[in-house]
Amino acid sequence: MAKKFAPLLSHTTSVPDSWPTPGLAKTIAQSREFFSGRRALVTGAFGFVGGHLCRALHAAGAQVAALDKDTSPQRESQLNSLGLRDEMEVVEADITDRQAMHEVVTQGGYDFIFHLAAGATVIEKALHDPYGTILANTLGFVNIAEGARHLPADERPLIIYSSSDKVYGEANELPYVEEKSNFGAIGVYDAAKLAADIFASTYDKALGVPTVVLRMCNLFGPFDFSIDYRLIPKAMRNIFRDGEALELYFNALEHMRDYLFVEDAARAFMHLAQHAGCRGRVYNLPGAHYAATPDVLRDVIETIEWLQFEAQAHAPHLEMARFSWNRSIRIIQSDPKLIVISKQHLDGSRIAREAGFEPSVTFRDGLRRAALFYHWHFTQRQNATATAELCAFARHAAQGPGVIHVAPLPEPGADRRKKPDLKLVGDRPAVFTTYQPKEAAG
Ligand SMILES: NC(=O)c1ccc[n+]([C@@H]2O[C@H](COP(=O)([O-])OP(=O)(O)OC[C@H]3O[C@@H](n4cnc5c(N)ncnc54)[C@H](O)[C@@H]3O)[C@@H](O)[C@H]2O)c1
Repeated sequence: MAKKFAPLLSHTTSVPDSWPTPGLAKTIAQSREFFSGRRALVTGAFGFVGGHLCRALHAAGAQVAALDKDTSPQRESQLNSLGLRDEMEVVEADITDRQAMHEVVTQGGYDFIFHLAAGATVIEKALHDPYGTILANTLGFVNIAEGARHLPADERPLIIYSSSDKVYGEANELPYVEEKSNFGAIGVYDAAKLAADIFASTYDKALGVPTVVLRMCNLFGPFDFSIDYRLIPKAMRNIFRDGEALELYFNALEHMRDYLFVEDAARAFMHLAQHAGCRGRVYNLPGAHYAATPDVLRDVIETIEWLQFEAQAHAPHLEMARFSWNRSIRIIQSDPKLIVISKQHLDGSRIAREAGFEPSVTFRDGLRRAALFYHWHFTQRQNATATAELCAFARHAAQGPGVIHVAPLPEPGADRRKKPDLKLVGDRPAVFTTYQPKEAAG
């Protein structure tokens, strides 16, 4: 059964995540009139993407209900870290509980349901619990759609389902194009996501429940706590927490994937909700960057090098400037039982054309924001002064005055105290201000 929690006392915590990116800020501003006062249920709200979406919808004026099967205040989650849970209705419920979902959906008066909860969101976990994965990732969707079906037709919420590029599986031709590429999902997680993806269209076309399907690529950014599984959070863990070389599975040497900063995913959900013409349609969520897995790890290393160089030049007292770390990559044995797709690449022209969505955050800018967050998370979160100073540095390093800073790495032996050259990206002048911790922190 669903449990509802009253808000606790409001509090805020500083986290150097430099939110929102300019693209998300614009989407929020432009959609405030649309979302203001409208009711949105986000399932999986205490997870990685759900937290970002709740934050963005809340900022746009929506009345957000945050549903998850684990809403404990102790849990690592964006909604807990930022005190955002106090600003929304928190609903603890399990999407596999049909009766609970019936109650939540029929009594909530929702205009939108963003369905992001999923039992296993990493393929290793799905392999060890196939039944639980299918129950949550397929029937969880069905339970929510059934709740909506029992409402009068004009009261049914729009359900936006977070599907995955994994539904396409191994393909002879890339990029994957909606309704042209075949389905090829074989792994447990992949097939369970695909089944719900197909049922989403069934509920829309045959049963009168409006749905939109969003097939997402690999997302990354602050607050992804899957630090033992996903490539980028695990690399950050290796560097900042464990002081170890980054790990690369042997079979991933030739893998290619799309990558998108998580705030852009939140934007995509908001765009789809607002475009009436998108109802009943299926969309790919493309990456801002298509790359081989070893190159992504190299990019992570270069980004942290760059941040450290910046800190050494402008904020040498920060731990970021001083810590020593391991810059190597070690190749480890892959699990032969895992079915892993070698190359995945999504075509993003439909969502651009029909929902006006394009990625706004470059891969490097997203990595900088993620690295600042994980550095704080793994090394500085207990220290309030260091946190405040890192927040100020994060604004300097990740946001910049209207530009994205892309600095070439210093040559070996170069004077590391010299300010790096900055390349201007965008149309505003590159003003590079020297970092002043006390002023900026205030
Ligand atoms: N992160 C990505 O790169 C990515 C890519 C493609 C698709 N997706 C999809 O996006 C969605 C969100 O992914 P994420 O990265 O935020 O995952 P996540 O694991 O961080 O979050 C999932 C959330 O769902 C909750 N949950 C699990 N089982 C539940 C249940 N039975 N009832 C209620 N809540 C339950 C979990 O507690 C968790 O908070 C998932 O559906 C995932 O399949 C994610």
